[in-house]
Amino acid sequence: MVTNTHLNIEAVSKSFGPVTALTQIDLKIERGSFVCLLGPSGCGKTTLLRIIAGFEKPTKGRLLLDGADISDIPPHKRGFGMVFQSLALFPHMSVAQNIAYGLKLRKASAKEQRERVEELLTVIELPDIADRAVSALSGGQRQRVAIARALAIKPKLFLLDEPLSALDAKLRDNMQIELRRLQQKFGVTTVLVTHDQTEAMMLADELVVLDHGKVQQAATPTSVYRQPANSLVADFIGAANLVRTRVGENGRLVLFGNTVEMAVDHDPGTAVNVAVRAENISLRSAQADQEAAGRVVFARDLGAFKEWLVSFEDQEIRVRGSASDEIEFQVGDLVTLTVDPARISVFAAS
Ligand SMILES: Nc1ncnc2c1ncn2[C@@H]1O[C@H](COP(=O)(O)OP(=O)(O)OP(=O)(O)O)[C@@H](O)[C@H]1O
Ligand SMILES: [Mg+2]
Repeated sequence: MVTNTHLNIEAVSKSFGPVTALTQIDLKIERGSFVCLLGPSGCGKTTLLRIIAGFEKPTKGRLLLDGADISDIPPHKRGFGMVFQSLALFPHMSVAQNIAYGLKLRKASAKEQRERVEELLTVIELPDIADRAVSALSGGQRQRVAIARALAIKPKLFLLDEPLSALDAKLRDNMQIELRRLQQKFGVTTVLVTHDQTEAMMLADELVVLDHGKVQQAATPTSVYRQPANSLVADFIGAANLVRTRVGENGRLVLFGNTVEMAVDHDPGTAVNVAVRAENISLRSAQADQEAAGRVVFARDLGAFKEWLVSFEDQEIRVRGSASDEIEFQVGDLVTLTVDPARISVFAAS
């Protein structure tokens, strides 16, 4: 694979007094790629983005942009475009003044400012609002103007921290598609922070899953989904079950009372967590005297899919069926659970 590293994050750690926010982050961000930093609250996403932007200094490590160390360059000299949830638009300026702000600072001519504003307003599909006051815009329009303002300077890097989290679900969906299109149109290297895994899967070329201040996995959304690197990732991404079980004497895995025909990389007797997604489990009706049966304790038809909770031994297993599934399982039904061995990941229990 040809690699073309734009930003190289080398062994970056960050502590705030006694709090360790990031430990030994190594990431190579490809030119023109869309990278999403994903992880639970407090895992260090914003801290990493602020370090890239230059608002925080790493305690250890350095950043290389096109091979040059930028660790000591202040934020306004890095030439990056930023959309931070808390850094709203300038309320006393019009839309056009907001978008042109960075260009004005860079002493672009009035003509150049006007043309760029016009171009960006067309791109964000709000061509007629240049003279509008920012206060007279809807939430979604403001977000689009903030994106246009960040892109106006043709940034080397486009950095976004939870830019869509304040929008309602429908608008957020639309904006995700729009953001992805814009990024592709401009080919700008983009790093976006989110705690919403659907958003991350929708946007990212590369997904970086952070937890406890460490990179747990950096890969394409598909590989993170299909081959989670560890149980933290498996648990965080998708509707996964982490099922506690053991490797049997014969070296085979026993899952939901059945031997799974697959090679396991762990010794017989090892306690393991098996990650299996809700949609990769199928249910069949079981007889009252059947061993290895579970009981349905929750059943819901969610329109797009059906969802059940099945109590099996001392665990509750989440199962998802497609909308077209004929079989209806009701609360109280006895069921067996089966999985395709190709669809599970096995991790040693810690
Ligand atoms: N200025 C600061 N001083 C002290 N601790 C900080 C500071 N900034 C962040 N932290 C701590 O560093 C850790 C990582 O915070 P960060 O804001 O990067 O998390 P996050 O992943 O962006 O979370 P969220 O999803 O809630 O925004 C947290 O424990 C946080 O309390
Ligand atoms: Mg944050």
